[in-house]
Amino acid sequence: MPDHLLPLINEALAALPYPQAPKGLYEPIAYGLEGGGKRLRPTLLLLAYNIFGQDPTEALPAALALEIYHNHTLLHDDFMDQAPMRRGRPTVYRKWDANTAILSGDTMLIMAVEQMNRLECQQRHEVMTLFVRTMKEVCEGQQYDMNFERMNDVSMAQYLEMIRLKTAVLPACAAKTGALIGGADEEAAQALYDFAIHLGLAFQIQDDYLDVYGDPKVFGKNIGGDIVCGKKTYLLISALNKAEGQDKERLKGWIEDKALTPDEKIKAVTELYNRLHIAEEAKAAIDQHFALAAQCLDRVGAEPERLQPLRDYAKSLLGRNV
Ligand code: IPE
Ligand code: IPE
Ligand code: MG
Ligand code: MG
Ligand code: MG
Repeated sequence: MPDHLLPLINEALAALPYPQAPKGLYEPIAYGLEGGGKRLRPTLLLLAYNIFGQDPTEALPAALALEIYHNHTLLHDDFMDQAPMRRGRPTVYRKWDANTAILSGDTMLIMAVEQMNRLECQQRHEVMTLFVRTMKEVCEGQQYDMNFERMNDVSMAQYLEMIRLKTAVLPACAAKTGALIGGADEEAAQALYDFAIHLGLAFQIQDDYLDVYGDPKVFGKNIGGDIVCGKKTYLLISALNKAEGQDKERLKGWIEDKALTPDEKIKAVTELYNRLHIAEEAKAAIDQHFALAAQCLDRVGAEPERLQPLRDYAKSLLGRNV
């Protein structure tokens, strides 16, 4: 992890000004933003900036914008997914209520735009256009994610497109934004975008994996939530593709069964995943997208030593358990 960037991001987030009132609106926002997290998106943004630029504080408003935006998506996502825990603490809709998650979440979206609007650089218009497009794409991905809960014939290609939208476009926007602000040309900026798309795909497949095999104390989220919701994860789609005969029918049955308790569902599905070696399939897919991400960096056209921090950071995400 690039040690100097994390404090820069966290101090700037902690220094965000909040109006005194109404507390019910702003307290959950502070709770969300101070609650840790990996700061993946602003870190990617600043590392991509550093390949080309000299002063990362120039890109800081954009880095904050993307982290605030990401946390906005989490407030809404946790309500949509009925997830009780995040970063080892109750989610906003559980600690407060659904209306709070909606309205504080909306306010975070506005705060994100407010930060992006502070950007003063030549590339401002291009950056804003990319940001707006990305935010719309995330909503599209989230809609597919929900649609797929009620479908049992989702293909791997449909799944990959769904996670490209809900998860990968935001790190990609981060990497391209950092590059643009740093003064990269269009080709280099696009190579960084493509790099972070593959990194984001690997990241979401790992998230799917951890939802089944993670340690809740480390991962900070409840285990098995995706199975209970019938989410079409990398694991479930692989298992549906790999299972045969009775196994396949039973798997479909468990996912749809309203009579099973959540724990029974999680146990039955996980046992089948284990028997079919689905974890190994997920790991292979993560490695594959990571390798594709690394190849994209070869197209950036910068000195190898300038790219190294980004390569090292990407590598540190591989096999993450948080
Ligand atoms: C969670 O994102 C949502 C996904 C795209 C999987 P992160 O795993 O980056 O969450 P934090 O910010 O580090 O908690
Ligand atoms: C994350 O998907 C996508 C967004 C938040 C936009 P998940 O629903 O898998 O993320 P977690 O597991 O709740 O963090
Ligand atoms: Mg979720
Ligand atoms: Mg979700
Ligand atoms: Mg998840």
